[in-house]
Parts: sequence; C-alpha cells; structure tokens
Amino acid sequence: MPLDVIVLAAGQGKRMRSDLPKVLHPIAGRPLLAHVLDAARTLNPRKTVVVHGHGAEKVRAAFAQAPVEWVLQSDQLGTAHAVQQAMAHVNGGGDVLILYGDVPLVRPDSLKRLVDAAREGVAVMTTEVDDPRGYGRIVRNPGGAVERIVEEKDASGAERAIREINAGFMALDGKRLGGWLGQISNRNAQKEYYLTDVVSLAVKERVPVIGVKVHDPMEVAGVNSKAELAALERAYQRSQARRLMDAGVSLADPERIDVRGELACGRDVAIDVNCIFEGRVSLGDGVRIGPNCVLRNVTLGAGSEVLAFSHLEESEVGVRCRVGPYARLRPGASLAEDVHVGNFVEVKASRLGAHSKANHLSYIGDSDIGAKVNIGAGTITCNYDGVSKNRTVIEDDCFIGSDTTLVAPVRVARGSYIGAGSTITKDTPAGQLTLARGRQVSVPGWKPPKKKG
Ligand code: UD1
Ligand code: CA
Repeated sequence: MPLDVIVLAAGQGKRMRSDLPKVLHPIAGRPLLAHVLDAARTLNPRKTVVVHGHGAEKVRAAFAQAPVEWVLQSDQLGTAHAVQQAMAHVNGGGDVLILYGDVPLVRPDSLKRLVDAAREGVAVMTTEVDDPRGYGRIVRNPGGAVERIVEEKDASGAERAIREINAGFMALDGKRLGGWLGQISNRNAQKEYYLTDVVSLAVKERVPVIGVKVHDPMEVAGVNSKAELAALERAYQRSQARRLMDAGVSLADPERIDVRGELACGRDVAIDVNCIFEGRVSLGDGVRIGPNCVLRNVTLGAGSEVLAFSHLEESEVGVRCRVGPYARLRPGASLAEDVHVGNFVEVKASRLGAHSKANHLSYIGDSDIGAKVNIGAGTITCNYDGVSKNRTVIEDDCFIGSDTTLVAPVRVARGSYIGAGSTITKDTPAGQLTLARGRQVSVPGWKPPKKKG
C-alpha cells in the first residue's frame, strides 16, 4: 500500500515568544521539522507534504533541499482544515500518515507500528501521561475500543481525568480520510476544524479505530514553549548518551554531554563532562576527551587525547596526538601522528608532521610543518600582509626558538635552528642556526636616572 505523509507545521507557536517560526527551533542543533522529516523518511513514503503557514518563507528556505511538497495554509482553522489543504496532493489512493512538525522525537519503529495498524482501520497514536492537561483525551467504550477523542476544552470533568491522550499522529486510508474531512464542522469550544473528529466518524461507519500506544511520552511530546524545547533537548541528549554508553563509550556524566550531529566512537573512548559534539565527529579507539571541549566536524585517530577547554573545528588529528588544554584547531588543521598542540596554541589551515610539537602560546596559520619540528613558545606565523594570506613552510627536524615571528611567504629548510626572538623574513638554509634579532649589549658604568631636586 503506497503511503503519503502529511506534516502539519502551520502553527505559530505563540508561546515560544520568538520571531523564528516554531518548527525551525532546534533540537540538537537541527530544526524540529528536520527531525520529523527524518523519521518520516524511514517509511519510504511516496510523497511528503508539509502544511506551513506562519513564517512560510523562512520555513521553506530552511528546507530548500528537502524532497517535500509545500502547501500553504494562510489561516490556521484547525488540524482538519490543515489536512484538507494537503489532500489535493495525496489523492492517489493509499494510506496517509499525519505527523506534527513540532513533535520531533517520535521513533521510526513507532511510526511503523502506526502505519501497519492502519491496515485494520484508523490508527491513532496514544500515550499515557501523569498530567494530561492540554491534550485531547482518548475516550474508550466499556469494551476498551477507542470511541472518540475529546479536546480538553470540550471535555467533561470525567473525561478530563482520562490519562490516555491523543499524540496527534494518525494513519488511515486516504480515500476515507478525504470523505470524513468534508463532514467535519467547527462547532466546538475553539471553533476549529478538529482532525480528531475523524475518530467518531469512523466509529459511526463501523470502521475499527486502533489506538497504538507508545510507552515513552517524550516520543510524542510537542514543543509549545522554550521550557518544553529544553526538556525535549535533554530527553534527546539522554537517549544519545545512552546509545553511546551501550556502545561502550565512558561518559563522566551522561547528563552533561551534547551531541548535535553524528558522533562515532571506537572502543574505550572516554568523554569528560560538558563536551559538545557538532556535525560529524569520529573518535578512534582509546581517544580521551577532557572536560569542556567543543568538537565540530573532526576526526581523531586512535589513542589521541584532547585536554580541557579545547576547541576543534573541521580538523583532522592523527593517532596518539595530544591537543590542549586550551588549544584551538581551526578549519584545515591537520595533525599527523604523535603531534602535540599545547595550551593557547591556535592552528589554522596547517599541517603538522609526525612527532612535531607546538606546546605553548603560538599561532600557526597557512603552514606546512614537517616531521619532528619543535615550535617554541610564542612563535607566530605572520601569514597575512593586510591583503593576502601567504604560506610558511618549515621542513623536517627544525627547531624554532621561542618568540620567533615567521613572515610569510617563507621557507625554513630542513634541520634549521632559529634563535629565540628572531623575525624571519627570508628563507633559511638547511642545517644552520639563523638569528634575526638585535644583539644584546650591556653598557658599563651606566647609572639609573635620578630624580632632580
Ligand atoms: C492537537 C490535537 C490533540 C492532541 C494534541 C497533541 C486536534 C483537534 N487536537 O491539539 O488531540 O492531543 O494535538 O499535541 O487535532 N496546525 C496546523 N494548522 C492548523 C492547526 C494546527 O498546521 O490550522 C499544526 C500545528 O502547527 C501543530 C499541529 O498542527 O504542529 C497541532 O496543532 P496544535 O494547535 O498544537 O493542536 P493542539 O490544540 O495541541
Ligand atoms: Ca500543540
């Protein structure tokens, strides 16, 4: 049976108190809607139609590449009205799955169960919560079959006590849905067209209604406020942490890690508290990450260690390297094996060869550094002349004295020694000591100045 997905995402989200359309607020660094579309994609639908309204342009722009069709619902007259707008796009026969753009944590296997249940009739996703306030309640008959869904504002006192709620997701035959939508009125407390009325219409026609329960209410929790957004973020991060630990990763505290992308870990990886992983991060066997580090799109080879408060971005770190504490690897940093980049060292668009070390207070930009090079404290590559960037080349086995400035373009040939405090503006010959600094003089008989009078 072909499946079409309709995602309702036209609502404003007033309680977010934000200029950003609700479905663009992020969980784990990605818009709410992106999570929903990911979950939908796992079902291989024929089509995915997104009903949007508030902030329409921003929403479309954020998903310019997504393989979805857009339907504009200018006035939000209710969930049934929203679905109605999309029906012209999905009238090819088959089942329809309705999702909400602001309910991001639903799991693919739960959606699969819902869609499978639609073979028998109308499938609605439900869950039991301690505090059902704000949700539609699932009213079952004495035999336990779902009879209707009543919205909070229309519910009697007894109905409000029901703790099984309507998650909002529904799967059913598209033709039946189309027929029922035409019969739904807005005669209710909110003067809205309720999609939930489909349930009583189905019951009237003796079409079975199947409640598909999920156990974790977080799966079907919607975002209506910043507090709910933060709660879902934590729930998401907790599940990521759980997944990492199940895979053997040691987390100092699973409550204090944020994965905003894909984190792949080898064996015996250990991560200390308050680290943030963004984009694609890959950590080889035995990698250790110290506290308070940020890693974005980086690869670390086996046995490497990142010490506290380091920031690594778009970089590649080889095996057995040591980075930090307080180090910064900017885009294009590439460290071969056993490289040390120490405190207050910044590396950008530079390669450091095997066993090379820059342990303290340096800026290394646009440089090619060979193997077994020692970069002394305070070394700066002057890569920018005010107009363009130039490269510094330091060949193998060089020793760069402390506080050296290397004015690019410049090449320091193999085995060069540079005396501390030098400003190197010309290429240096291999294997020699080069000094480029004022000579030290001492003045005999010199007296400190005295105050007059
Ligand atoms: C809806 C359900 C309720 C359920 C709850 C779960 C109805 C009548 N009620 O209530 O039973 O417990 O969700 O979260 O369906 N939307 C549109 N266009 C509209 C109206 C809504 O696109 O005209 C979208 C919203 O952006 C949102 C979703 O539909 O993504 C749900 O709308 P919302 O107003 O939050 O519905 P609730 O009143 O919470
Ligand atoms: Ca809602």
